[in-house]
Amino acid sequence: MTEKPVRVQWTSRMAFILAASGSAIGLGNIWKFPYIAGENGGGAFVLIYLACVAAIGVPIMMAEILLGKRGRLSPINTMLILAGEIGATPAWRYVGWLGVIAGFLILSYYSVIAGWTMAYVLKMSLGSFVGISAIAAGEVFSAFKSTPQFLLIWHTVFMAVTLWIVSLGVSGGLEKGTRFMMPALFILLLLLVGYAMNSGAFRQGFEFLFAPDFSRLGADSVLIAMGQAFFSLSLGMGAIMVYGSYLPTHVSIARSTLWIAVADTVIALLAGMAIFPIIFANQLEPTLGPGLIFQTLPVAFGQMPAGAFFGTLFFVLLFFAALSSSISLIEPAVAWLSETWKMSRFRACAIAGSLCWLAGLGTVYSFNVWGEIKWFGKTIFELVDFVTANIMLPIGGVLMALFAGWVMNRQTVEAQLPLGKGLAQRAWWILIRYIAPASVFVVFLHASGIL
Ligand code: TRP
Repeated sequence: MTEKPVRVQWTSRMAFILAASGSAIGLGNIWKFPYIAGENGGGAFVLIYLACVAAIGVPIMMAEILLGKRGRLSPINTMLILAGEIGATPAWRYVGWLGVIAGFLILSYYSVIAGWTMAYVLKMSLGSFVGISAIAAGEVFSAFKSTPQFLLIWHTVFMAVTLWIVSLGVSGGLEKGTRFMMPALFILLLLLVGYAMNSGAFRQGFEFLFAPDFSRLGADSVLIAMGQAFFSLSLGMGAIMVYGSYLPTHVSIARSTLWIAVADTVIALLAGMAIFPIIFANQLEPTLGPGLIFQTLPVAFGQMPAGAFFGTLFFVLLFFAALSSSISLIEPAVAWLSETWKMSRFRACAIAGSLCWLAGLGTVYSFNVWGEIKWFGKTIFELVDFVTANIMLPIGGVLMALFAGWVMNRQTVEAQLPLGKGLAQRAWWILIRYIAPASVFVVFLHASGIL
């Protein structure tokens, strides 16, 4: 099996794992996972989430990386040439398109929330939260999000930083930084969990998160848990495919995937273990929604010694985690623009980025002046989030699974993903061909009320 000539590459296996974990670990773990676990009743939701990561996320991540590694181009062109290689329909390129659009829509609101973390770096460093009560922290947050100018400024700053890094290109921009920030974030989360253990409600928080009570699941909870597995692992839109396309030939896809999935899951669970005890110790509700971490963590930092310092550091790291994710959301669009239209990366970033910034205004205003504008009972932000994470990503992921599992030549796939001749290989084929696609289908049917 001949390998395509390789353009730019990661410098090592570790560089790839760090960059891909950098993409996976972000606001999805620390901001989103706790608040949706809270809104969907806790334990049972978490259990379904974990099952989706293992049975759907992990095999699809391997498929997505191998498509990228084989195609060596942006997702749209990768799908096009891989389909061409075996005489399948060029319509497969629409999987790439779906991903570009999903990434674009996700980034439009991701940037707004990442802007909140930047604002909180400032608030923390000014000592605004020292000794603060949960009620006062809630008031600070609502005053902040009700002022569109604040959200707008930070959204603009975050988008500008993202584009600046993406325009620097692969090894210049994407690779640096993740090296130190991920371990540092992990240590600070441990510190928070340590604090939570002494907050008086660790047990209650722990039980909320891990004791499954299926009666607490809402109508959409299973769909949301599955969507979160795709979202948190950065799957289904070509981000991981693009990263795979920069993968050196000798690197093991399977082993890298396991590392990334474990790191991503551990960070999300630690975030939950830090946050829920604080919620219960302060008589707050787990259903606070998108403001959850911004109303709880300041209370914890406000009470611990040197809290202003650790709090500032935490939000700085969260900002970097968001940044290493946001760059992967726009990379497929930028790679496609510069490859197909022979545009400079800088130009491609300017075009994709300004459109994305504009789309982000919908989210900025949905937290204040447009808060009452709703479709299907959801604000613009909620709708964009729901459709991208719970519908577009799973569809994209399943199409990739079907392509790798059924359309591609089996020898080609096995050459990219050598799993030996044993159980691992058989399990992967069953998961990718049957279990992952069928599970997504069943969850869709369930959510639409048919099942
Ligand atoms: N996984 C990231 C997070 O948890 C967000 C993200 C980055 C993403 N790239 C993606 C989500 C691609 C879906 C698809 O914060």
